[in-house]
Amino acid sequence: MAEMSFPHLLTPLTLRGTTLRNRMIVPGMATHFAEPDGTISAPLREYLEARAIGGFAAVVTENIGVDPGGRVMARMAMANDDRFLPGLSQLAAAIKKHGTAVIGQINHGGRQTSSKITGQQPVAPSPIPCPLMREMPRELTESEIHYLQDAYAAAAMRLHRAGFDGVEIHAAHGYLAAEFLSRYSNARTDQFGGDLPNRMRFLIGIVERIRAATAPGFLIFVRISVQEFVPNGLDVDESILIGRRLAAQGVDVLSLSVGVYESYNRLTLLSGEPEGPWLPVAGQVKRAISIPVIGVGRVKRPQVAEQALKNGDIDLVAIGRASITDSDFPDHVRRGKRDFISSCVSCNLCLGRSAKPVMVCPINPFVGREAMLRDLAPAPPQVITIRGGGIAAMTAAWLAALRGHKVTVVDQSGEFGGMQAWRSRVPGQAEYGNAVAAVIARARAVGVVLRQAREAAADIVWTVRRFESAPRWARKGREGITSFDVLRDPQLRLPHRILIVGDDLSATDAALLLAERGHHVTLRSPSKDIGFDAHPGFRNLNRELLTQRGAKIEVGVQADRLEEGDSFDACVFGRIPDAVLNELEQWSAVSGNAAAAVIDDAYEPGALMRSVYRSVDLVLGAPTYFAADKGSAPVGLSV
Ligand SMILES: Cc1cc2nc3c(=O)[nH]c(=O)nc-3n(C[C@H](O)[C@H](O)[C@H](O)COP(=O)(O)O)c2cc1C
Ligand code: SF4
Repeated sequence: MAEMSFPHLLTPLTLRGTTLRNRMIVPGMATHFAEPDGTISAPLREYLEARAIGGFAAVVTENIGVDPGGRVMARMAMANDDRFLPGLSQLAAAIKKHGTAVIGQINHGGRQTSSKITGQQPVAPSPIPCPLMREMPRELTESEIHYLQDAYAAAAMRLHRAGFDGVEIHAAHGYLAAEFLSRYSNARTDQFGGDLPNRMRFLIGIVERIRAATAPGFLIFVRISVQEFVPNGLDVDESILIGRRLAAQGVDVLSLSVGVYESYNRLTLLSGEPEGPWLPVAGQVKRAISIPVIGVGRVKRPQVAEQALKNGDIDLVAIGRASITDSDFPDHVRRGKRDFISSCVSCNLCLGRSAKPVMVCPINPFVGREAMLRDLAPAPPQVITIRGGGIAAMTAAWLAALRGHKVTVVDQSGEFGGMQAWRSRVPGQAEYGNAVAAVIARARAVGVVLRQAREAAADIVWTVRRFESAPRWARKGREGITSFDVLRDPQLRLPHRILIVGDDLSATDAALLLAERGHHVTLRSPSKDIGFDAHPGFRNLNRELLTQRGAKIEVGVQADRLEEGDSFDACVFGRIPDAVLNELEQWSAVSGNAAAAVIDDAYEPGALMRSVYRSVDLVLGAPTYFAADKGSAPVGLSV
């Protein structure tokens, strides 16, 4: 394993008498694990405790509600009442006993929520709706503003009583405190609107109240979006002024994020986008203010954070999604071992999908189920062979080996990454190769054997199957081929002009791959956009990447015929959303021989996630995820 050293990341930092043992923190990340009434649940506590055990210097909790009218999700932890104290106290104790500081993020959603969640009309500085939530908020009166400032302070005092080391006021991402800060959402003409000192009045009033009500050692962090990427939104210059004022007010740390709901694409960057692009932006603010700053944004490799610390751009790094995939990130850094790190593929499934909002992850299916992994029951040992690779197969192999089975994974090709290894060849998606390497390393570390072979003697055989689109029609006597043929085989030679028909990620990625190789590519989606099965953020990104490579994109075009004037030398087929044609979609088994069970390999991250969770169920012998909790409560984005 590669040995590396990270002196800056591992240097402690003392704030108001609290020593952070290194520079790595978990930022606030909504999990939807809280109880429906807002009590901290055991899964939420165990999820955060696992990150403390893994060596993070501080854990900032997910945003905790200060008032029922500001709930941003159905399952939001709350701190607006003393009845939440026992759960909050247990959480603080669980984190602190591992030497990690615990900071409670306090929030009110303002206009970025929905009456379906709160049961009341959203409130905001001004009656301007959030373009995503599309619900007209009610303008707050001055007395309501004071009431809410008191509510933030009361929540902070409760967290203080519960043993938290401090709070982080969430004044980023377009929620209530951010709405006051920004001309984008604040059009008031009273003392809370207009010039920056007035727009800061809401936030400053909260800071003053908290400082006055808590002990001198109690930490106050404030999180702002240093760039909002919307018309009249905050920018670096205003952020510097905000930072200076907050420092003068006794705030200890300024956490620098970006974006609001409308610009959510900048907030949780996707695979194919740069790593750590906001760290130099944070540096511009840091150099102009006197208090430490936290930087964030697709930091998945310690090298990126180490360099930013060395450059003096940041004082602390927030490791968001990479702490979901790897709760032991800081410990790996400390031990100089990086092979298990970098496995987050920035797919944004952890943000949840409307039907089932709970935090999930295809790389770490035990997020929020840490106890299940910790208390894994050993099984009577069997010899298990898994035919075919892929992330789901490797997850099953790892888990089965943890339970005491002797596991061999065989693959005739000797390539064990499955469809995600194909994906890693697509421009910008090389990190899928890292994820594959990480899950293989995880399996090998517990004794799983990988063998280039067709079969291996076993008590139990599980086989991998893949879901692939089928070719539709041929052109000029040529067989149509599929997007997966293109993705699977780097040696596949194709003529110059290619039409790709399909509305899914595989079609988009095949188009990208071929355009990168210099083909004249047209991507034709029968749906209203491209990459329709993937996280919406990928649509814009992929459009950009395709356009940069000269590919032509057509959407909403019927798929069952060529257009007049079409002239292509080859046609490649991805998914075509048509009930009749879909019957042609096929499962392809890696090996057709009889097997006790199948494990699905899948391309699109959501489908991959489902197959990974099912592979966990297979090893545990019971449905642990999909059968439980059919929650359909409305969700906000909650970031
Ligand atoms: C699932 C999820 C939930 C989030 N919830 C919050 C939140 O409650 N409060 C907050 O300030 N940011 C939230 N964020 C934003 C993260 O704190 C972080 O800024 C963002 O994920 C970018 O960092 P990363 O690239 O390291 O993940 C959330 C992000 C994710 C992925
Ligand atoms: S769900 Fe995707 S983005 Fe989120 S932590 Fe897991 S791999 Fe990373």
